[in-house]
Amino acid sequence: MRNPYTPGELPRVLAGREDQQHRIRGVLSRVSAYGETGGPPVVFLGPRGVGKTSLLREAQRDADEHGFLTVWVSCHHGAPFLPDLVSRVDHALREADVVAKGDRRSLRLDEIAVEIGVPTGVKVSARAAPDEGDGAETGARVSALEDLLHGTATRVRERGGSGLLVLVDELHAPSRTDLAVLLNAMQNLAGGREDSPFALVCAGLPSSVAVLTRAATFAERSTFVTLPPLAPEAAAQAVGEPAEELGVGWTGPALTEVVERAQGFPYLLQVLAHATWQSASPVAGDRLGVADVRAGLPLVEAQLDAMFAARWGAATPLEQHLLTVMAHAGSASVTRAEIAAGMGRSTQSLGMPRERLIDKGIVEPAGHGRLRFTMPGFAEYLRATTATGDASRPST
Ligand SMILES: Nc1ncnc2c1ncn2[C@@H]1O[C@H](COP(=O)(O)OP(=O)(O)OP(=O)(O)O)[C@@H](O)[C@H]1O
Ligand SMILES: [Mg+2]
Repeated sequence: MRNPYTPGELPRVLAGREDQQHRIRGVLSRVSAYGETGGPPVVFLGPRGVGKTSLLREAQRDADEHGFLTVWVSCHHGAPFLPDLVSRVDHALREADVVAKGDRRSLRLDEIAVEIGVPTGVKVSARAAPDEGDGAETGARVSALEDLLHGTATRVRERGGSGLLVLVDELHAPSRTDLAVLLNAMQNLAGGREDSPFALVCAGLPSSVAVLTRAATFAERSTFVTLPPLAPEAAAQAVGEPAEELGVGWTGPALTEVVERAQGFPYLLQVLAHATWQSASPVAGDRLGVADVRAGLPLVEAQLDAMFAARWGAATPLEQHLLTVMAHAGSASVTRAEIAAGMGRSTQSLGMPRERLIDKGIVEPAGHGRLRFTMPGFAEYLRATTATGDASRPST
């Protein structure tokens, strides 16, 4: 029987995100009821693997069902995303048959594409738009995007749809000028054209807040929503339901074991459940027990080790030193002073590696200048590998 768990992919059951889904619904119903913009962007924040993309995809599915034209872009480090946005709007319009050929021309899509920096006409292109445009050029791009969003949203509406929803994932990553153009276009739409049935919902690492507010002051009015770990009941549902659909059960103690080990962390839940299933190969009518969970643990460890090794490999030597000191502190969170002392450096010199590690989603602020690991198990992994003096890792 196929394994119903999805480490690294969209979950079959999105558990425990009712509040966040409700919030998105609120924005969408404002757009569809009044035909106006959904207000400032809603931005979901959280560390890697907490379920940001999963929530956004579910929101997209829901919006599609409720008559929205939806467009998804995922940002990449320092790269422009507006060319991608334009070509996806174009693609979505064609797919949905929202605009006829002549109508499409009245949207000036080709001209808009050129203004926004898509090289030739509207097509997916990797070519970068200039990142540092002068003020006038940026102004032209803002109004081109404004026209695109407004035109698209109103066309959808005229055809009996609800409006346009743009979803932006990995919001911490994109080129600052592109972000500024999007935010300014949105501000103009929100301020001037009440008849723009358009909403923007985003997700990214916690550093998205700083990235957004640096790009445009309007961004301060965004609604920032932090995705918490899953509550134990939701975690049990995320594990139990996909199996139940295939006629396979989990014993109470087995569910408890998985839920406790995952500490509410969705990615870890999926890895644990997937490994349990794989080692037990159940058939309909079976029940997965604690012994099955334990039998799967070597698989879990192998998978997590690979992930941790990748994270370690992506860190600079200075960042690795900082991580090692944090891991050996052995507490849930570590102060700046403890890190500085452990590294034999001044607290001021920690600013850069600290920020970079937060940007990469490996560690996160825990209040009062404290830092903690975002992913359960990483500290243990570092302690184990640095203690064995693994040659590939410095024993700092
Ligand atoms: N609410 C949920 N219920 C069950 N499983 C979930 C839930 N949210 C996420 N998952 C699972 O957790 C894993 C990580 O989810 P996702 O990719 O959405 O996280 P993310 O926050 O976007 O991570 P990244 O920052 O790395 O992009 C996936 O395997 C997904 O199936
Ligand atoms: Mg994601």
